[in-house]
Amino acid sequence: MSYRRIGVNPISGALGAEIDGVDLSRPLDNEVFAEVHQALLDHLVIFFRDQAISPDQHVAFARRFGEIDLRPFVRPLELEVLPDHPEVLDVVKEPGETLNFGGVWHHDVSYREKPNLGSVLIARESPTHGGDTMFANQYLAYQTLSDGMKTLLGSLTAVHSSIRGYDGDRLASLYGVRKDDLDEDSVKRSIAKAETTQAEHPVVRTHPETRKKCLFVNRSYTMRFSGWTDEESRPLLAQLFTHSVKPEFTCRFRWRAGSVAMWDNRAAMHYALNDYRGQRRVMHRVAIHGDRPF
Ligand code: SIN
Repeated sequence: MSYRRIGVNPISGALGAEIDGVDLSRPLDNEVFAEVHQALLDHLVIFFRDQAISPDQHVAFARRFGEIDLRPFVRPLELEVLPDHPEVLDVVKEPGETLNFGGVWHHDVSYREKPNLGSVLIARESPTHGGDTMFANQYLAYQTLSDGMKTLLGSLTAVHSSIRGYDGDRLASLYGVRKDDLDEDSVKRSIAKAETTQAEHPVVRTHPETRKKCLFVNRSYTMRFSGWTDEESRPLLAQLFTHSVKPEFTCRFRWRAGSVAMWDNRAAMHYALNDYRGQRRVMHRVAIHGDRPF
């Protein structure tokens, strides 16, 4: 589509666009908001640079897209919300920590019956280098499958669970590190102590707004196909986890303090790179409620 009020500059051939001409510290008029919303649907993840926004302004922007999710994770996690702003999650990695939050490809909270619509993330403090976030287009992941595979996957649902966040062994295996190499703070921050949450979703979901089909499985939370054993599911899931994040389906965003990303969690996965050991990274995140996938 053509945009009249905002600039939209794609950053890769697959997904992602930087938006110009928008100041998120001010309320967006309806026409600008409609174009920003359309840019999100067209590009799956949109970025805004040099935004000086308060937590209230951050929440106000996210709220234009839907109701705020006050429980964006299985609780209680050792992740903090901001004092006086229960909607804003403080995602901090300290210089001594080994694991980072979101360092495995995932759709946020896909273990819930209604995974988030999306999230708005702002960098408050970014490392001098490293700490980028990658995103992957799951329309493309679906469209590039063979007709035979599309037919098979179209008939399947999958079980998603939060269980891998539960203990040091599972966490280490998910992140591909040795348990002994995990520092205590990382483990404490990452492990969910609440009950496991799980949900079943179609493996191919239809985006409720664009009506296009996309792949909906991820390495963090998808455990098996419904009615299949773990052993039966493993090879095909492994193939889909690899296929869904082929480099040509991805983009990579370099943060600076004041950079904002908003992603569509229904059609994009993301991955926070953990390549800035010894440096601090501080992000604030607001999540938006989504629908039950169909
Ligand atoms: C996440 O929400 O998964 C974290 C993203 C990031 O910190 O880059």
